[in-house]
Amino acid sequence: MEDLAQRLAAARSVCVLTGSGISAESGLPTFRGVGGLWRDRRVEDLASPRGFARDPHLVWTWYGERRRAHRSVEPSAAHVALAVLEDRIPDFTVVTQNVDSLHLLAGSRNVLELHGKMREAKCTRCDERRPLDDVLDALASGAPDPIAHACGGMWRPDIVWFGEPLPPNVLERAIDAARRAEVMLVVGTSGLVQPAASLATKRYTGAYVVEINPEETALTAHVDRSIRARASDVLPELAV
Ligand code: APR
Repeated sequence: MEDLAQRLAAARSVCVLTGSGISAESGLPTFRGVGGLWRDRRVEDLASPRGFARDPHLVWTWYGERRRAHRSVEPSAAHVALAVLEDRIPDFTVVTQNVDSLHLLAGSRNVLELHGKMREAKCTRCDERRPLDDVLDALASGAPDPIAHACGGMWRPDIVWFGEPLPPNVLERAIDAARRAEVMLVVGTSGLVQPAASLATKRYTGAYVVEINPEETALTAHVDRSIRARASDVLPELAV
């Protein structure tokens, strides 16, 4: 660990790619850890334009449960450690696949949310945005047509669904951060979803890449070092 701490201390530019595993210690389930099912429906069938078109209220029920779970947890020691490291390293970027806002709540500032954020809803037609909780409140209050927007569109979570492109400006900034990085940490991701996972490969970065994960992943063969441990067992040690 000393070697990694020294590399971080000497680095001008660091990029951290995170997945749901870093939020597992806050108490949120990982994606593939729950078997990818909710009320016996596949997550892919809910978090998709087709799933939303088929049953928007069911999709909103699922997101309502997830949003309530997000609001019931705190950032983990791992999230906090990354915020501490950001204050010490001149160029520090957190690129996250998570939509739970826990990096921001932990104090990280330079956070790129590749797969969107569950704080906001957007209109399917005019792209207007509003706090996601306002839609959940309208749904809970029994308001007529709570997910209809005046323009004729429907409110949906501002999340990147399966089969949808990532926000181009966010992806470009994430690729730039990966390219600049001298050290990259890959924390709590199975490395199965693209293009996020490829940011940690030689395709996008020349950094010294270290994976922190209790299990082997699709990225393990591509990284310079793989630490078989939980995020909160390693990151706070690097931030002392
Ligand atoms: N510390 C570090 N890693 C952990 C911990 C922990 N305490 N607990 C679990 N993990 C690891 C698991 O071993 C697994 O490799 O976190 C990873 C979680 O993998 P997934 O469940 O596949 O989640 P993720 O990689 O974030 O999924 C990527 O897939 O479903 C889509 O858009 C969704 O953003 C998500 C993307």
